[in-house]
Amino acid sequence: MKWHSEKRKIKDLIPYPQNPRQMTDKQNEDLKKSLEKFDLVEIPAIDTDNKIISGHQRLRILTQLGRGDEEIDVRVPDRKLTEEEFKEYLIRANKNTGQFDFDELANNFEVDDLKNYGFDRFDLGEIYFDDELVKYGKDKNKHSINDEGWENSDNSDGIRDLVGYDLLSVWGVIQDINTETGKYFFPLPINTNDKSRNRVRYSRTHPGELEKIVKTYMRKGDFFLESCVGWAAFSSVAKFYGYSGVGIDIWDVSLEYCKKQLANIPGLAKVEIKEMDALDLKFPDNNFDIVYCNPPFFNLEGYKQSKDDISVNSNYNEWCNKIKKMSQECFRVLKPNGLAIFTMADFRKDGVLVDAHNDWTRISKEIGFVLWDHAIQRISSMSIVTRKRNYKKRYCVKGAEHILVFKKILSH
Ligand SMILES: C[S@@+](CC[C@H](N)C(=O)[O-])C[C@H]1O[C@@H](n2cnc3c(N)ncnc32)[C@H](O)[C@@H]1O
Repeated sequence: MKWHSEKRKIKDLIPYPQNPRQMTDKQNEDLKKSLEKFDLVEIPAIDTDNKIISGHQRLRILTQLGRGDEEIDVRVPDRKLTEEEFKEYLIRANKNTGQFDFDELANNFEVDDLKNYGFDRFDLGEIYFDDELVKYGKDKNKHSINDEGWENSDNSDGIRDLVGYDLLSVWGVIQDINTETGKYFFPLPINTNDKSRNRVRYSRTHPGELEKIVKTYMRKGDFFLESCVGWAAFSSVAKFYGYSGVGIDIWDVSLEYCKKQLANIPGLAKVEIKEMDALDLKFPDNNFDIVYCNPPFFNLEGYKQSKDDISVNSNYNEWCNKIKKMSQECFRVLKPNGLAIFTMADFRKDGVLVDAHNDWTRISKEIGFVLWDHAIQRISSMSIVTRKRNYKKRYCVKGAEHILVFKKILSH
């Protein structure tokens, strides 16, 4: 088969309707910028009947830019391709293109420039996050230090070595607060609202779980929001590892505690605590790299007890609606391609299992998030021990917590 160049008007070329190549909004924008700056550099290929084989996206964007009447060079075969040949080259033109050598990229380009040219921060993991990857990703001997969860999680597919985290992880049991950051936590206040149970202290997200979250999903320079900051458990761990951010809550008891708690965490990072309703955030759109939230689990533990308290609901549906509003706000303030990380435990109501993590996943997808990761943290807590003794105490399935990681990808 021989190919030669001919001239065609862009508008006379026929797109292949089943073209399997898709573009996100960002990729579309990147390609548009490139075409505006460099014009059409590589020549599209067409069949003898003007059907486009390669160059679909570039030709589509040129048409959008009002250049349909322009004549361009195209490559044309000396005979019509068979259907099989057509389909094969359609894929090969995009697929047999090699891959980037990230070491070469890192040595010869600035990260900010690469981002401008169309890489996203996950593509750039190997360059941009080199320090973290060396510590937690590439070197198997290092990423398990003092942290049995890393050892236990399933990394048999090698994905951890490639991108720094697993596809689906079950994080090994955590029991005591014997983590690096645990020693910096103040004791929790007494829950005087809780008349129904023997437990007298409020609960806190386990620092061991949060260490894994921070090490797995946060990257150098990330600016975070902790919504429903509570006792600043996430903010404290993030600050400990050098991340700055903001924590918000509506409850004066929590706000006061958080300020003291964060002042106790060493390091130069800055974490601001603000009084704010998670259902109505006063931050501009696209403001944070990462949002974390471990909200009230339905009515299981009461906080401010006001109407806007996510733990005050007359039924489960009302809680779901608040979670939806809260998640929508997280989506809004998150930068494109940023991650929202939600911790949720399922619980029992009237003896029946409520799979709240599932409902929250559905809600998050409905509002535009894409499910990026789902880790399960196994927890051995006192409630497991006590629930054996007292059936009525089986209010929370505390054997595991779900870490739901969502990505804000605008084209979805
Ligand atoms: C489970 S606690 C968070 C504990 C936190 N994850 C920790 O371990 O430090 C839930 C927090 O959500 C807060 N909260 C409830 N409704 C809220 C709302 N509408 N806006 C902001 N915070 C809210 C409560 O005041 C409480 O401090």
